[in-house]
Amino acid sequence: MTRHNIAVLAGDGIGPEVMREANKVLDAVAAQCGFELVRQDYAVGGYAIDHHGKALPNETLKGCENADAILFGSIGGPKWDSLPLEQRPERAALLTLRSHFDLFSNLRPARIYPGLEALSPLRIDIAKSGVDVLVVRELTSGIYFGQPKGIDGEGEAQNAFDTMRYSRKEIRRIAHSAFNAASKRNNKVTSVDKANVLVSSRLWREVVEDVAKDYPNVSLEHIYIDNATMQLIANPSQFDVMLCSNLFGDILSDECAIITGSMGLLPSASINADGFGMYEPAGGSAPDIAGKGIANPIAQILSAAMMLKFSLNEEKAASIIEDAVTKTLMDGILTGELLPKDQREHAKSTSEVGDYVVSVIQGK
Ligand code: NAD
Ligand code: IPM
Ligand code: MN
Repeated sequence: MTRHNIAVLAGDGIGPEVMREANKVLDAVAAQCGFELVRQDYAVGGYAIDHHGKALPNETLKGCENADAILFGSIGGPKWDSLPLEQRPERAALLTLRSHFDLFSNLRPARIYPGLEALSPLRIDIAKSGVDVLVVRELTSGIYFGQPKGIDGEGEAQNAFDTMRYSRKEIRRIAHSAFNAASKRNNKVTSVDKANVLVSSRLWREVVEDVAKDYPNVSLEHIYIDNATMQLIANPSQFDVMLCSNLFGDILSDECAIITGSMGLLPSASINADGFGMYEPAGGSAPDIAGKGIANPIAQILSAAMMLKFSLNEEKAASIIEDAVTKTLMDGILTGELLPKDQREHAKSTSEVGDYVVSVIQGK
């Protein structure tokens, strides 16, 4: 029997709550498809700071190095917000993991399923226009990592600075990810930049145009980030793959999540050149709802499906999960944030949604 070793990093806030549901679903699909999943839990984020003194303990990093894939929950929260930036869970754990494994290609698929338009806050005719967007976000460079970064001077003369920097090589490899993805989808890449102002965006555009020559069947458009945020609301069906730098992709992917209905629906895959990956919801630890059993587990469950597809070569299992999730939503098994306020008494809990997905997989 094929065996896959997964490092599970549930993290903080809603992380452990939604991870529990993803684990149930993984067990169900592994039993059905006949493979073995060996999961090992590791401490990460604020939890790891509290229990091991740092956000990414050595044991956690080693465990990830020895695994076939990483399934990540979410990290951070008010308790750790006042720590210096380099010790905070976001930088010390999440960004370090992305960088350590060179997970430069971040895929965030957002779709309004036919029949589920009512979940979207968009006007109904727009929601029904066929929204299916893949954000391809560069994840290990740009303003998140560019040097110099720091603070100097005193008083009113004090300066704080980050550097938005991209090399041709970094742009080229993420552009290939986007064009490859588009050639398996609807053959269109929209590259998002701010080339009317930023030098780094001008190089971005030049390299993206060069890469486009290798993909004659894929069309390329450029759009400024400010217009992109507006077009996503006004006419989202014009987009197929949106190719973004690190910061622009971060912002646009939250917008993509909410146009499908909730932050809790958007999964993500962060992959390196060897196909090794970390899989996590695009949203965070949601401190406002943590501990209440009401978080939407779908993003975590779909992230597990992406892991099966992209890192573990279990495509069939991945589609079984995706189909079960679609049916769950179609059957109206919804957490509260997906419902209008006056219908929230019908909301299902985190575990009820997970159980339902499992029951669909098991054909019950
Ligand atoms: P957030 O994504 O945690 O929450 C934003 C909003 O979306 C909140 O109203 C929240 O309740 C809602 N939401 C998010 N996930 C949900 C789910 N599964 N079900 C229902 N509602 C959901 O963003 P934030 O509030 O800006 O950040 C909170 C903390 O999470 C911060 O410390 C931030 O740095 C961290 N964060 C971590 C990750 C990660 O670990 N990958 C990602 C984003 C933010
Ligand atoms: C995300 C998150 C992270 C990011 C934070 C927590 C560092 O917002 O994965 O989208 O900005 O990349
Ligand atoms: Mn984000």
